[in-house]
Amino acid sequence: MQSVPLMIITARAESAQYAIAELQKYDAAIRPVRELAPGVRLMTLPGGWGQFAADAPPLIFVRHVFPVVIATILAGEADDCAALLTHEIIAVAPPAPADGVHSFSVQTRGSWPNAQYAVMDKLVASIEAAMTARGFVKNVKHPDKVISLFAHKNEAGEGVLYAGVSAAGDNRSRWNGGAAHYANEGVLSRAAHKLTEALEVFGLTASGRALDLGAAPGGWTNVLLDAGAHVTAVDPGALDARLAKHPQLHYVCATAQRFFAEAAKIKNANAPFFNFIVNDMKMEMYESARIMCDAAFLLAPGGHAVMTFKLKTGQGPAKIKKALDILAQKYRVAGVQQLFHNRDEVTVWLTR
Ligand SMILES: C[S@@+](CC[C@H](N)C(=O)[O-])C[C@H]1O[C@@H](n2cnc3c(N)ncnc32)[C@H](O)[C@@H]1O
Repeated sequence: MQSVPLMIITARAESAQYAIAELQKYDAAIRPVRELAPGVRLMTLPGGWGQFAADAPPLIFVRHVFPVVIATILAGEADDCAALLTHEIIAVAPPAPADGVHSFSVQTRGSWPNAQYAVMDKLVASIEAAMTARGFVKNVKHPDKVISLFAHKNEAGEGVLYAGVSAAGDNRSRWNGGAAHYANEGVLSRAAHKLTEALEVFGLTASGRALDLGAAPGGWTNVLLDAGAHVTAVDPGALDARLAKHPQLHYVCATAQRFFAEAAKIKNANAPFFNFIVNDMKMEMYESARIMCDAAFLLAPGGHAVMTFKLKTGQGPAKIKKALDILAQKYRVAGVQQLFHNRDEVTVWLTR
């Protein structure tokens, strides 16, 4: 066991500096130790994992984090090495509580010397056997407990293993390294995964009447329709032909601004309230935030909204805060995160 508590964080490679800065805002004593892979950093955690899991604030750029309880050089015969490490790792994993089903998953990442692959395979198999013997049930998709393994080749060419055990909820993502993977079948655009991930991360379900601003070619609209919503899709661009005849879809070929102007004329007569508004419009984030404020009158009380901020080079936390301040005039900002499926973007969750 190392003397200073450690953790491994994962962010989008281009946002790692922001991830470190937001952690240091929480605790100025947190320090980066080394880069293990693009976007993956070994960091000190002087306050310890228990405290971090209990009181870390919402973080925009840290996608995934796990505590390092074992940091060791992979050496010796694969069988012996795996057996020894399993013993050490299981020693820090509690037994499954007597009531209910308690699941686990072993999540492995990293790059390690080829010769060590055999160790990793054996290690995963023996940890799985030991956790099963402790009363846990393997569940890769929705684990309660996660055994995280990150193997890394150090400057001397040795395989180094970092391992930790934590509650999946404390890792900030149930996915290995926060890399959310969804099936591509039936998906109309790569962008669709952004909304699927946002709904999962923010714990939202899209139902009732939904408004999709900047809808083309229709990836988000399709996610909303699949969730059972009635969707008004607004975009000057055309939607994918596969959506054309969907009975719960109303397509408006217009800009969002034009749509609001028309909606404002009829609102008093027949309030066009939506329960859910999404906005993935390709435009500068302040402009998009202002347009979103103009949409507020269309969102029913208790409704939710999800939008993306498209970031230009150099637009980090300070600029994001300014755009959030615009939104705060009309909404409560309930969450902001750079999701796995966001590239130069962050996703914002709003409520009224
Ligand atoms: C990234 S795409 C949206 C992708 C969509 N979410 C999907 O899943 O298929 C951005 C869209 O914003 C639309 N857009 C840009 N300015 C707009 C405006 N003022 N009003 C409405 N849509 C706009 C563009 O026409 C484009 O189709």
